[in-house]
Amino acid sequence: KNDPIEPIYGQHYMPRKFKIGVTVPGDNSIDIYTNDLGLVVITDANGQLQGFNILAGGGLGRTHNKEETFPRMADPIGYVDKEDVYDLVKAIVATQRDYGDRGDRRHARMKYILEEWGVEKFRSTVESYFGQKIAPYQPLPDWEYQDFLGWNEQGDGKLFFGLSVENGRVKNEGSFQLKTALKVIIERFQLPMRLTANHNIILYEIEPQDQQAIEAILKEHGIITNPAEIDPLTRYAMACPAWPTCGLAITESERILPSVIERIRTLLNRLGLSKEEFVIRMTGCPNGCARPYMAELGFVGSAPNSYQLWLGGTADQTRLARPYLDKMAIDDLEKVLEPIFVYFQQDQQNNETFGEFCHRVNFPALQAFSATYTPKMTETTTTESKPKRVRKNQNRVSVPDDMFVRLKEASETEKRPMNQIINEALEAYFSQKS
Ligand code: HEM
Ligand code: SF4
Repeated sequence: KNDPIEPIYGQHYMPRKFKIGVTVPGDNSIDIYTNDLGLVVITDANGQLQGFNILAGGGLGRTHNKEETFPRMADPIGYVDKEDVYDLVKAIVATQRDYGDRGDRRHARMKYILEEWGVEKFRSTVESYFGQKIAPYQPLPDWEYQDFLGWNEQGDGKLFFGLSVENGRVKNEGSFQLKTALKVIIERFQLPMRLTANHNIILYEIEPQDQQAIEAILKEHGIITNPAEIDPLTRYAMACPAWPTCGLAITESERILPSVIERIRTLLNRLGLSKEEFVIRMTGCPNGCARPYMAELGFVGSAPNSYQLWLGGTADQTRLARPYLDKMAIDDLEKVLEPIFVYFQQDQQNNETFGEFCHRVNFPALQAFSATYTPKMTETTTTESKPKRVRKNQNRVSVPDDMFVRLKEASETEKRPMNQIINEALEAYFSQKS
């Protein structure tokens, strides 16, 4: 404690972050592959801790137009007994300390060592610090993304409740009173809480006899307690803070993601794809804080009101997405996504997910299909006896992102549609002119 010199780094701290993730086999709720170092708990036949599978070299942050920076998934390195785990982690950190790039922060993460050396050289170098051979990686079951929402047994007779927090915002807004509900529950039941890697909250140590009272408090405060009732697009989505919190943001993210999801939902419904669900993630810059590079549909802020589009990740976050478009104006969202969704609808195989489809058919095919695609016409009901065919969005106008945020807030506070507010404002404008 009193030693001013850090025992592993000495006087030279790492020039970049170092992320460690720990999980159990099968549970990829923490995006294990995105960490510099990943530990997967291995237990013996009696369920007692035996050791860890070790992964290394994951990391997401990149920089636009700098090809030498890229997101990367961690590689399996091997297995270590619990007695030796500290020494192995120390050996990995020491390897980066001695061989990592300290001259260039953009190139400093451990992922670049793994990329340049490959696993074999990395493992043998780590072994030279560790002082012994690293045992082979143990077989694991397939990974699954789990969010633990709703009511669950925690294993000792008590319960835990996973609460979905849209966009990670604990707030009170109109009849939705999440902040108050949490305060009431915690004050009354004195429960501990955990935050999940997908910005949800887990309340735990709940006595079964308190379940109904807690459920009632949540419902009274306008909170959906049955996760099946949450739109999966929202349930699995994530955005980084971006504006106004983060000084590195190039675009909006957290504040506009709900409106982007709403537009995607509308488009899917219009195309007859209302049952589809996939992982959407958005960030305001390429640093990748909401891990967009693992999403099935990722948006990465690239210029004012424009996003890079990443496609081809999976629902369980086991494959990197790839950049499909460099700059998509957010106003063109429907124009860009409609052909891809229609192609998906026509060509989906064996119930594959949207991300799997994009990966399988590959980007040239998506691009070719989009290039020759004619937007679908939609039916709208009119007072005329014959339904009139009109093009959806024909009369769309766009507003700047910040205006949209204000408009949405006004609509929620006043509990009336955005169109109505816009109409009123325009009426006022034109009556002033005439
Ligand atoms: C609000 C201001 C924030 C700033 C300025 C910021 C900054 C950064 C930077 C510079 C990177 C790139 C790191 C690298 O390439 O080595 C990064 C990556 C990341 N950040 Fe943030 N961040 C912010 C908020 C957050 C929040 C709130 C979270 C989540 C709770 C978060 C999670 C992450 C993750 C998961 C990554 C990707 C990790 C990786 O590169 O492997 N960030 N952030
Ligand atoms: S990804 Fe979002 S929060 Fe992270 S640095 Fe970029 S704008 Fe900021």
